[in-house]
Amino acid sequence: MSLAEELLELATATAREAGRMLVDKRPPAGPDVVQTKSSPTDVVTQMDRAAESLIIDRITAARPDDGFLGEEGGTRAGASGVRWVIDPIDGTVNYLYDLPDWAVSIAAESGGVALAGAVVLPRRGETYTAARGAGALLHTESGTRELRVNASVPLERALLSTGFGYAAARRASQAQVLTGVLPNVRDIRRGGSCCVDLCSLAAGRVDAYYERGVQEWDVAAGALIVQEAGGRVEGLHGAPAGPDLTIAAGPGTFEALHALLAGLDPLRD
Ligand code: IPD
Ligand code: CA
Ligand code: CA
Repeated sequence: MSLAEELLELATATAREAGRMLVDKRPPAGPDVVQTKSSPTDVVTQMDRAAESLIIDRITAARPDDGFLGEEGGTRAGASGVRWVIDPIDGTVNYLYDLPDWAVSIAAESGGVALAGAVVLPRRGETYTAARGAGALLHTESGTRELRVNASVPLERALLSTGFGYAAARRASQAQVLTGVLPNVRDIRRGGSCCVDLCSLAAGRVDAYYERGVQEWDVAAGALIVQEAGGRVEGLHGAPAGPDLTIAAGPGTFEALHALLAGLDPLRD
């Protein structure tokens, strides 16, 4: 088994276990908000923390020398060269409101290159996986299928997903950019989870995605899944995807979306 396959197996098993725990232990009245971060709407529940601890415990037990970057603070330098990038619940607001589109996202990288990514949506019974060079897969109860992005969808017929940050000023500027995007595309979806948006792109359920302000843990697994499904994930003017701007789409759609966004001053705040 290659290192990428080995890491993917561990990422997938761990994300599934965390996903089951998040479903089984979700308090019926909803989880408690234990902290707010960048704004009053940027919440952390006891379940985000419990899931991140479970994930780090399981991975550490299997690979004690690896490093971590976890959204909820589980950050540690490792000695093996492998680093795990974890969002224990991507789509926390959906989880809080008991909407189904939230996911556990786990990626493993070596020397800064993503080797494996697993995104588990427990409420949809879906697991998305990718190992570098080996393609991207969707596993459900009814079987496993290979993922392929939609290519060369003209922008005016493209269904786009996007998201908004938690800070009010950032949202105001994201809304302004959106007024320039919306008249030029089929429609917009705001699903509430960056990694789910990326997996939907890989599965051909949307044609493109962009967002300003996403962090490494939001995109690490989903970006590999999109790339292995034939898509491009980049920032503006060839910059790597990152907090400034992440644009993702199939070839032939990416270029048009990039040109549209570049003309809208998307980094305005
Ligand atoms: C958020 C979600 C959301 C995106 C935000 C992220 P969280 O992550 O991915 O879709 O628009 O930028 O912060 O807070 O639910 O882990
Ligand atoms: Ca997130
Ligand atoms: Ca999160």
